[in-house]
Amino acid sequence: MLETIVSIIRQAGALLLSAHAKERDISSKEGKANFVTKYDIAVQQFLQQRLQEAFPSAAFLGEEGGASQLKKSGDTFIVDPIDGTTNFITDYRHSSISIGLARDGQMYAGAVYNPYLDEVFSAKKGEGAFLNGARICCGNRPLCEGTVGFGTSPYHPDLCDATFDLLKALYRASLDIRRSGSAALDICYAAAGRTALFFEMVLEPWDYAAASIIAAEAGGLCTQLNGSPITLEKGCSILAGNPAARADFFALAAQRA
Ligand code: IPD
Ligand code: CA
Repeated sequence: MLETIVSIIRQAGALLLSAHAKERDISSKEGKANFVTKYDIAVQQFLQQRLQEAFPSAAFLGEEGGASQLKKSGDTFIVDPIDGTTNFITDYRHSSISIGLARDGQMYAGAVYNPYLDEVFSAKKGEGAFLNGARICCGNRPLCEGTVGFGTSPYHPDLCDATFDLLKALYRASLDIRRSGSAALDICYAAAGRTALFFEMVLEPWDYAAASIIAAEAGGLCTQLNGSPITLEKGCSILAGNPAARADFFALAAQRA
């Protein structure tokens, strides 16, 4: 199953790479920096068609509309065709495709592909997490010895101050901070030990579904900022990272309270 998902995600990556700047047909959705291009739509249509051919009984929930509900019983794909749309539009070349598979309402498998670096992160429940087929582990680097990834929740400008207040505290407690523009990759980077921690105040299920199982299978945890489990039927905050850095985060949060 995961092999089929990885094969499909790689083909979708080729579609994304085929985009040429002058062809990008940008239209605005509601909110700051919230764009949709014809490639978001094309990649989602491709993924929906190929996943439904391969797994006909699974439901499909995608960022770009046509969403069905998360199935309480059975399989649901939770898909982001381009995570990092602003990066894609500005040719920053750091975006990903994300395919999560929930079974009976819980994350079961996932793949996140960065076609620019040809990196596929993948995991299936109980079988570990992998980067291009090699096992990854989040390690146990404390906050003071690692970097912190974060997202700005750009579609929620009311969270700007809270985000940057927390960020300042984390910047002081860590080696440095990173803002990549793709939450799915950010969580995978924490899973691979490239960062110690990642946080964002609000994300949607397609941003974190696939990456959350990759983080968990890499020995880390992907929860809400208060430590409670993520939700798949609606968006939530995200805190992903290795156990030591997460413990440091909660100690810091208690000091700030
Ligand atoms: C966004 C990216 C970004 C994060 C935003 C997301 P999109 O997804 O993951 O890093 O900060 O909150 O919405 O809109 O590019 O698919
Ligand atoms: Ca996204």
